[in-house]
Amino acid sequence: MSTAAPVKIAVTGAAGQIGYSLLFRIASGAVLGDTPVELRLLEITPALKALEGVVMELDDCAFRTLAGVEIGDDPKKVFEGANLAMLVGAMPRKAGMERGDLLSANGAIFTQQGRALNDVAADDIKVLVTGNPANTNALIAMTNAPDIPNERFNALTRLDHNRALSQLAAKVGRPVTAIQHMTIWGNHSATQYPDLFNTLVDGQSAAELVNDQEWLEQTFIPTVAKRGAAIIEARGLSSAASAANATIEHMRDWVGGTPEGDWVSMAVPSDGSYGVPEGLISSFPCTVTDGKYEIVQGLEINEFSRAKIDASVAELEDERKAVTELGLI
Ligand code: NAD
Ligand code: LMR
Repeated sequence: MSTAAPVKIAVTGAAGQIGYSLLFRIASGAVLGDTPVELRLLEITPALKALEGVVMELDDCAFRTLAGVEIGDDPKKVFEGANLAMLVGAMPRKAGMERGDLLSANGAIFTQQGRALNDVAADDIKVLVTGNPANTNALIAMTNAPDIPNERFNALTRLDHNRALSQLAAKVGRPVTAIQHMTIWGNHSATQYPDLFNTLVDGQSAAELVNDQEWLEQTFIPTVAKRGAAIIEARGLSSAASAANATIEHMRDWVGGTPEGDWVSMAVPSDGSYGVPEGLISSFPCTVTDGKYEIVQGLEINEFSRAKIDASVAELEDERKAVTELGLI
């Protein structure tokens, strides 16, 4: 085992479904490899007993990279000194709901947690929001943490990215490893835009290889954008293992870097790139070097893509307006 000091990783909603998949993988090195980690687990008071059971199971794995676990219901204690935070804890939507319906139910969680992170997290804190509506919850947390640089707040669209990779791989009959430069633009919602015009399959344009605009519009985009609802319909519960996997992959790449020659989708505060209004937390193609992401510049956005990106960004603007009216930012 490494002699490095443990990295403190805070996870909220730790006794929930996603938490149950997430914690064991973090503890076994999926985010930071051999670097020891200390888990800081936040739950609401009634869920602390269940969380104690999860901690017993973590103990029973005897993970070599798990240096300690602390649990609690007070974000100011649990986030103390945290280097990485995965904000998962929030109500999931049920069948028939859109993620935006969760705005008022979940938004308040992120004002409190943003403030607590602002006050007690480590100077190098990176915050990834998975709890829905993820983009706008990240905006709320960011706005309530004025001392933390904005670019340390991301939201999760890696699950959408992975869904798009696997749908495209199935269509072209190639493994996911043949695909590069996938991009999800916009919101983690039904308006998101998975862009095949900039995607490559074995170096060839995915849109040209597929050459089927009807499949793109009628099958690919809706399948990816509505996958969350399809899983709720089938499982009676929202995606959990795949969401935990995506949360891990996003954080792993944000800390450790993206693969040479490729990029990933990350919802990050817009700097105005591609006409997305500054400050909205919107999904972009990003590369990461030395723990800092950059939005990939200079991609061609055709008329079809422009309209799709604009529609998703308009939804993000509506959500920003709604949480402003709710007094959350
Ligand atoms: P879940 O209901 O199983 O677990 C949520 C947990 O959060 C519960 O244990 C609950 O007690 C806890 N919680 C609630 N309020 C809290 C607070 N203030 N502080 C700390 N913990 C709190 O839900 P889940 O299936 O694990 O999903 C969690 C969230 O992730 C949902 O909002 C869901 O919609 C979202 N999600 C996002 C993505 C994505 O791609 N961005 C994918 C899947 C799920
Ligand atoms: C998902 O995409 O699976 C999650 O955001 C859950 C949901 O509500 O769709």
